[in-house]
Amino acid sequence: MNIRLVKSSWDTTECDVLIIPMFEDEEMTEGVPAALNERLSGLLEELKSTEEWKAKPGEMTVLYRPNQLKAARLILLGAGKSDSYDSHSIRTLIMQAVRKVKGYNLKRVAVFRRSQVQPTLAAQAAVEGVVLATYDGDDYKTEGRSKNFIEEILFLTDQQLATDEIEKALKRGQILAEASNLARRLVNEPANQFSPSRLAELARETAERFGLEVEILGEPEMEEREMAAILAVAQGSDEPARFIVLKHFGASDPEAPPIVLVGKGVTFDSGGLSLKPAQSMEEMKCDKAGACAVLAAIQAIAQLQIKKNVVALIPAVENLPSGRAQRPGDVVRSMSGKTIEVINTDAEGRLILADALHVGRQLQPEYMVDIATLTGACVVALGRVRAGLFSNDDKLCKKLLQAGERAGEKFWRLPLDDEYREEIETQIADIKNVGGRWGGAIIAAKFLQEFVGDVPWCHIDIAGVDLFQEGQPAKGPTGFGVRTLVEMVDS
Ligand code: BES
Ligand code: MG
Ligand code: ZN
Repeated sequence: MNIRLVKSSWDTTECDVLIIPMFEDEEMTEGVPAALNERLSGLLEELKSTEEWKAKPGEMTVLYRPNQLKAARLILLGAGKSDSYDSHSIRTLIMQAVRKVKGYNLKRVAVFRRSQVQPTLAAQAAVEGVVLATYDGDDYKTEGRSKNFIEEILFLTDQQLATDEIEKALKRGQILAEASNLARRLVNEPANQFSPSRLAELARETAERFGLEVEILGEPEMEEREMAAILAVAQGSDEPARFIVLKHFGASDPEAPPIVLVGKGVTFDSGGLSLKPAQSMEEMKCDKAGACAVLAAIQAIAQLQIKKNVVALIPAVENLPSGRAQRPGDVVRSMSGKTIEVINTDAEGRLILADALHVGRQLQPEYMVDIATLTGACVVALGRVRAGLFSNDDKLCKKLLQAGERAGEKFWRLPLDDEYREEIETQIADIKNVGGRWGGAIIAAKFLQEFVGDVPWCHIDIAGVDLFQEGQPAKGPTGFGVRTLVEMVDS
């Protein structure tokens, strides 16, 4: 798909589809609406007065062969109230519009920008919307896969704007959205196709293609390094664990403290001996969403040649019950030396992250961010809209929230008070891997905090936001986190 910026007007551009956002609260008497209304011989006013068309967010009205335009089809894209229109709405609305038309045999789509959103932000968000719309999560269908006929997307802009800036923003949006789609495609892979070793192979391919340094530890190397918490989770499965390290050297000084990104890579989470109920267990193939986000993010970081040193750490395991599986009551000595009583084998994410965070801490990073489908409790707390965010550093937390703003990904900070730590105290060992019934997302974060020391750190719990739900504008995995991580590293 060819994405181009063209200095041309909505009424003279030849294309198969022209998309024009329209606001609920705008008058038909001036500016673009007035001009458009005139070209359409008063149709806009008529549609408004009959209330067939209100420009509510996501509402799409298609007009065919408007005879005073060069476009074969015009989509009036409802954009809601003009003052709540931001880069987030641009991304989602354009995604919806492109999803609507991409299956028709129409090759050339033009998008007209008309908003108060800063042009580069708007351009980036729009191109992200377009690229995100091309993936539908139907990878294994042999028939009836969603199609994409679009060959060319034109972004129409007026003469005065600085083109290079916008061209750059378009390129950036494309890289970010393609990385998001990569994460979505990987998260969507079923566990029989995608083991920890396959994830590691893929990481190696990515590294070779994008000039990252890569190191992959197999179980013997992990044993040597005493990564016992990761190995304990993996021991029930016939699929061997992998520990994946990817490095991007972007800073002028290769020794400069890196930013460390850690992603939970459980390729399937059955719960282990603390087996999950069958209901929705299939969704636990997505328990590697954190790992996929980190892998996709570092790929984008390399493509954008961001001038920072970045290290991605991915502990990859499969959590299954068997005669060799870890048992509730087992005590493991994690790599850090801290001993953990495993009360529930389904709280496995925090075990593998414990060792990975310890590895990260040893790199003396500038800061560390981990991302994980960690707790059902986070879904209970925040639903399907915002990811849980935890941090031991207010400044860093703010940086992440601002990055999320730019990325169009929503977060909500949850607390880390010391009182919550009492929940993971146990008689036999230093800590146990679960607490009581309440505040489960926070308790999991307190557990992770044990392994980060003084390193500025953020923990992102994406258990509620890794998959699109019925009624949301797309299907399958969301790729949540990829864009925020890149925007954060780049700020
Ligand atoms: N992978 C799950 C968390 C999860 C739940 C992700 C729902 C996506 C949707 C995690 O490994 C898990 O099983 N957590 C347990 C922890 C509990 C045993 C303390 C949970 O949330 O039930
Ligand atoms: Mg689990
Ligand atoms: Zn899990």
